[in-house]
Amino acid sequence: MTAAELTASRTGALRGRVRAPGDKSISHRALILGALATGETRIEGLLEGEDVLRTADAMRAFGATVEQLGDGRWRVVGEGGFSEPADVVDCGNSGTGVRLIMGAAAGFAISATFTGDESLRGRPMRRVLRPLGEMGATWTASAGDRLPLTLRGGGLRHIAYELPEPSAQVKSAVLLAGLHAEGGAEVIEPEATRDHTERMLRAFGARVEVTEQGHGRRIGLPGGQALTGTAVQVPGDPSSAAFPLVAALITPGSEVTVEGVLLNPLRTGLLETLREMGADLTFSNLREAGGEQVGDVTARHSALRGVTVPPERAPSMIDEYPILGVAAAFAEGPTVMRGLAELRVKESDRIALMAAGLAACGVGVEEEPEGLTVVGAARANHGVAGGARVTTHGDHRIAMSHLILGLASERPVAVDQPGMIATSFPGFVELMRGLGGAIGDEVRQAV
Ligand code: S3P
Repeated sequence: MTAAELTASRTGALRGRVRAPGDKSISHRALILGALATGETRIEGLLEGEDVLRTADAMRAFGATVEQLGDGRWRVVGEGGFSEPADVVDCGNSGTGVRLIMGAAAGFAISATFTGDESLRGRPMRRVLRPLGEMGATWTASAGDRLPLTLRGGGLRHIAYELPEPSAQVKSAVLLAGLHAEGGAEVIEPEATRDHTERMLRAFGARVEVTEQGHGRRIGLPGGQALTGTAVQVPGDPSSAAFPLVAALITPGSEVTVEGVLLNPLRTGLLETLREMGADLTFSNLREAGGEQVGDVTARHSALRGVTVPPERAPSMIDEYPILGVAAAFAEGPTVMRGLAELRVKESDRIALMAAGLAACGVGVEEEPEGLTVVGAARANHGVAGGARVTTHGDHRIAMSHLILGLASERPVAVDQPGMIATSFPGFVELMRGLGGAIGDEVRQAV
């Protein structure tokens, strides 16, 4: 998709059944663990978005064989270790990709230079470099802790690391480095974050010891363990499913089912919040696939009311606040979101961009250093005005969120840099059009 902007316009009822694309977090991990392992890993349902394809290229650069066999079907053959890449490793837009790969690479006596696009080069890397440094890796960067940077690994020692920020990326980087550290590694997370790395390490044959501690967990990875290639089934991404589901909730007459959605409780914070807001969400065909809980989720148009989201829920819905902001715009009364410091260092400053985008569309917002309050239009018994061109700073979730808003607002909403949507949700526009959504690249006078 090469359009300079995309426009979403008011739509009739959205109806249909769709499949969410493969989960981004699990897709990255499947490729990285496959490359670290010995033998063949077969992956089904891999997300073929730009971010994950960068990780596939990176795994080739570190010496693994990575091949696409068919639609979402991939084969990875690892040699049980990484070799030094001949060139700079470019992770594109992906914080997950670069942070997990740095952790994995730190375990080996090789040096690798990492970079990314403009957004990724502006994001903090100290959060992973600090624990990797404590384990014995060294690094040099030309600007603070930002990419491009060169990491040199090998000879790592054990670490017991308490996460200062609730980040599954940092936890995963430490655990992956721990695979090749003397004595392994231990991570203490005061708040539980997505546990796909722990689950997948087990699927690849590693022993991982997890103990609950209050809201958090202590995760121990004993040293001296090797991974063996295995089969991985990637479920549908709840962070992507959120867009058609919220679109159905805010568009009168709609009923949309997203099939095969990952329902790991550390990823379902948005669905819980929407239910508290009065959303008509039903779950069917609940099953276990690839060691994860999955199911089909149906959303019907609902009269939503504003809620206060408990800050401790943030890790289980961290990528979903932008689309929650859209649902909140159509609710009755304010929705208060706090404890969102991490949102300022995502692909963009998502608090600032949501506040600006919603305000430009006529929605009442109040921005705080670590929070956002959205005052739903339904209270004043009028709709959301829309009629704005929204600056996304190349952030895929900011773009998709405002396009969903445009489907239910009075006037069309346009977003810039829509090509970035392909980082996490290739086929988003076609999927929304298939449900009846009016999204196009024609420039509309009404905006
Ligand atoms: C991810 C963790 C989260 C999330 C990101 C994916 C992962 O980031 O925002 O999209 O796959 O581990 P943090 O770990 O920085 O919170």
